[in-house]
Amino acid sequence: MTVLTINKLTASVGAEVTGLDPDALAGDEALGAAVLEALEDNGVLVFPGLHLDPQAQVEFCRRLGEVDHSSDGHHPVAGIYPVTLDKSKNSSAAYLRATFDWHIDGCTPTGDEYPQMATVLSARRVAESGGETEFASSYGAYDHLDDDEKQRLASLRVVHSLEASQRRVTPDPSPELLARWRSRPTHEHPLVWTHRSGRKSLVLGASADYIVGMDLDEGRALLADLLDRATQPELVYSHTWSVGDTVIWDNRGVLHRAAPYPENSPREMLRTTVLGDEPIQ
Ligand code: OGA
Ligand code: MN
Repeated sequence: MTVLTINKLTASVGAEVTGLDPDALAGDEALGAAVLEALEDNGVLVFPGLHLDPQAQVEFCRRLGEVDHSSDGHHPVAGIYPVTLDKSKNSSAAYLRATFDWHIDGCTPTGDEYPQMATVLSARRVAESGGETEFASSYGAYDHLDDDEKQRLASLRVVHSLEASQRRVTPDPSPELLARWRSRPTHEHPLVWTHRSGRKSLVLGASADYIVGMDLDEGRALLADLLDRATQPELVYSHTWSVGDTVIWDNRGVLHRAAPYPENSPREMLRTTVLGDEPIQ
């Protein structure tokens, strides 16, 4: 049986896993279950200096669930998507500046896909300044509310859109770009997600545009206030990358963002995503 050595990085989110080597990752049948359990408990797992090669990363992710292949074609290894602002390495780089704002992946899918279960990033090249990846628990965001507030938020529904998340970093789009954003359907989600496990989390972040049935500004102010409270510095784990680090997060239970880094930075993360099987409900 696999026993992971786990050290918590903050009181609320993130833990470091040590003592694993890439060969163990590839060969250990019980590892998937152990990692998933640790992920549910900690939201984010950091594997420092693992130097996982891209193929091994995809194989590791297969132990956790079904690997997302919808972004294939940007990297020679299927299942790998390069996260970089360098357009020569990723033709969809322009969209990635939106990672600078707190978000949950997959709230505005092209169809009716559920949010991804987990995401793995491995650092190929790091930024000289900025470029940390920051995490805050969205379970914690709910748990910290008082009872009155929990009750008040319970029935609220929020419209999420690609336009909302892109507009925050590109406030003045050309008509063509705006039309492209708007070709992605919007999605209405409950503000409070009741997970199969029984845990509850808040569904917040850059894609959250407005609250259904509430005055636009009032709803946006509420969303901004909830996000602010969820992401106070003392509730955040900020990962400063070294080349070879691998980090995995529970996309259903944490918010994340990249600290801004320059457009011409060599920063390159290799991402693999594990598909989710649970709707926001
Ligand atoms: C992502 C993402 C953050 C980062 O890949 O979904 O938000 O630090 N990345 O690159
Ligand atoms: Mn993301």
